[in-house]
Amino acid sequence: MRILFIGDVVGSPGRNMIHTYLSKLKSIYRPAVTIINGENAAGGKGITENIAKSFFEAGAQAITLGNHTWDQRDIGDYLDDTNAIVRPANFPEGVPGRGFTVIKINELKLAVINLQGRTFLPPIDCPFTKADRIINEVKNITPNIFVDFHAEATSEKQALGWYLDGRVSAIVGTHTHVQTADERILPQGTAYISDVGMTGPRDGVLGMNREAVLTRFLTAMPSRFEVTKEGSAQLNGVVIDIDEKTGQAKHIERICIDEDHPMHD
Ligand code: FE2
Repeated sequence: MRILFIGDVVGSPGRNMIHTYLSKLKSIYRPAVTIINGENAAGGKGITENIAKSFFEAGAQAITLGNHTWDQRDIGDYLDDTNAIVRPANFPEGVPGRGFTVIKINELKLAVINLQGRTFLPPIDCPFTKADRIINEVKNITPNIFVDFHAEATSEKQALGWYLDGRVSAIVGTHTHVQTADERILPQGTAYISDVGMTGPRDGVLGMNREAVLTRFLTAMPSRFEVTKEGSAQLNGVVIDIDEKTGQAKHIERICIDEDHPMHD
């Protein structure tokens, strides 16, 4: 089973990259499942129902989220109603939506789990023990398990990677918006990358307007961050091949499309 995962889509520049490149990527890589992290898709802050639907129409089968999950008002109802979108599973019990889902493609099943780190992010439940509980539940349904770990600290991502090695097919990091070139198959068969990188403006600071970010660094005063519309955009992702009988990963490959790395047809 081949999985195409697209890293954090930021604002309209990121959405435009999805609509320009996703169908081309799908025709080149022919993934069984396409997953998009959409937690910055609405102006950098969360996702709306309409944007989520546009990703499904563009060819995604699942959407993952992160620390901006609640930024768009009323998104909770949509999360409750839609199986194919997951928010971090280690948010407190009882909040809207779900932390994992099982995607079915013909005979194939893929569990998609979203977790959020706790280092340099708001305090929430433990992602390690939450992962244990979910894996125990879904391993009876399918050996194919994909984890989007939305976290700031590389150390926390590497630690969860080692903790889950051999128990999930893939764990990919999101949230830092900078693609990390440490993709590998861990010894027990789990595909790992510290961060997939972002899909959106390339000439801001992590996708945000650089003047506003510089103002905050230079003055330590509040400044309003907005998705930059200047410059060109990038698309970052990974392709992962899984032996669907065992759930073990066989291959992981980074995708980066930008002005310096144009896509070749
Ligand atoms: Fe994030």
